[in-house]
Amino acid sequence: MKINGVKGMNDILPAAVGRWQEIEQVAREVFALHGYREVRTPVVEPYALYARGVGEATDIVTKEMYVFEDKGEEKLALRPEGTAGTVRAYIEHGAHVEGPQKWFYVGPMFRRERPQKGRYRQFHQIGVEAFGIAEPDIDVEQIAMLADLFRRLGVAPVVHVNSVGDAACRPAYLEELRGWLRERAAVLCADCRERTERNPLRVLDCKVPSCQPVLAEAPRLLERLCDGCRAHFAAVRQGLDDLGVAYQVNPRLVRGLDYYVRTAYEFTSDALGSQSAVAGGGRYDGLVETLGGQPTPGIGFGMGEERLALILEAAGRPVPRTVPEVFFVSADDTGRREAMRRAAELRRAGVACDLDARGGKLARQFKQAERVGARYAVVIGGNEASSGQAKLKDMATREEAPVALSGLVARFRPTPA
Ligand code: HAM
Repeated sequence: MKINGVKGMNDILPAAVGRWQEIEQVAREVFALHGYREVRTPVVEPYALYARGVGEATDIVTKEMYVFEDKGEEKLALRPEGTAGTVRAYIEHGAHVEGPQKWFYVGPMFRRERPQKGRYRQFHQIGVEAFGIAEPDIDVEQIAMLADLFRRLGVAPVVHVNSVGDAACRPAYLEELRGWLRERAAVLCADCRERTERNPLRVLDCKVPSCQPVLAEAPRLLERLCDGCRAHFAAVRQGLDDLGVAYQVNPRLVRGLDYYVRTAYEFTSDALGSQSAVAGGGRYDGLVETLGGQPTPGIGFGMGEERLALILEAAGRPVPRTVPEVFFVSADDTGRREAMRRAAELRRAGVACDLDARGGKLARQFKQAERVGARYAVVIGGNEASSGQAKLKDMATREEAPVALSGLVARFRPTPA
């Protein structure tokens, strides 16, 4: 019986993986340039971490998490996002004693959502978290860093920024918003009505067309920020202007996780259709304390690798592929032995090469050389093995040139940078 993979959980096959490697390599370079260091945390954490960290009333915790009991002992969850686990590790290892920390991570996350383009049940995030800095310059640096990451990959998603207030200004606003929404319950969708009670801020995120004109008129938190939040947001905007980062202020930008205060931001692209956010993040100054640590400000983002891959594909960016420089084609057994030796020699010198270990007909070996994208082929038979002279065939132009087998390393060895 054939067994297929789990719905919404994808294989990334070798033909596609070059895209992922490129994304991750560029991200690592950009993070290193900004002083972010990698952290690796488990994909399984206590359920309570997300209930308390992400929020008991969020869709992620109530509907989307994969939750299970470990032999009836502990309630665990597959991580739906990276922030809570990273904060747990930060606290557990007392990282605050080392001063402000900038960490990044790359890995799979799990949410039991309805799969569609750009939305999967296992997806991959590249995320960063900066701990211990309350000042707006870190917000600016982080948003500019993410913009730079995209720029290096040749794309430019739209940057949306907002302030979602803090404990000083948000509670009064939420009450005002809830009252306003209740008065309009009759013209809002069932989801909005339910969220009005459970999580009124999320109503602003509703995508149902008939709710749009109503919600466009909703009271705005941005106009009701306390002095501290207003000054912080103004400084973030000023800093982005200074660095020449283009952005839009989006007063209806709200995030699906409860931990955010002050700065919230998202990068969106039309190439993604309805799941338009390729990255999202913001400030979470109370989270470390909520999860049992010292009061510590924090800010981070998560970027969806699948979504970024879709954007790069839509932009026509080719999938990078590593190909062998040389493919050895053997005409007979003696040739095979010589090809194996020469291939080993080239590989030791750092030159990627390959051969068809099945041997067999020349035409089939050439076919394989084409499939793997080899740049050159060298045919070796008994004659070539004994004379040490062979022909080097350029696979693209089909031109042939004589080559000494003993000169292959010198010909192909990568020049030191
Ligand atoms: P989030 O907005 O829930 O934030 O997710 C961040 C990104 O992950 C999204 O913009 C999207 O690209 C990708 N993503 C989310 N769900 C899916 C899915 N089902 N399929 C494919 N891609 C998806 C967070 O997770 C926060 N932890 C970000 C953060 C870090 N905030 C502060 N620090």
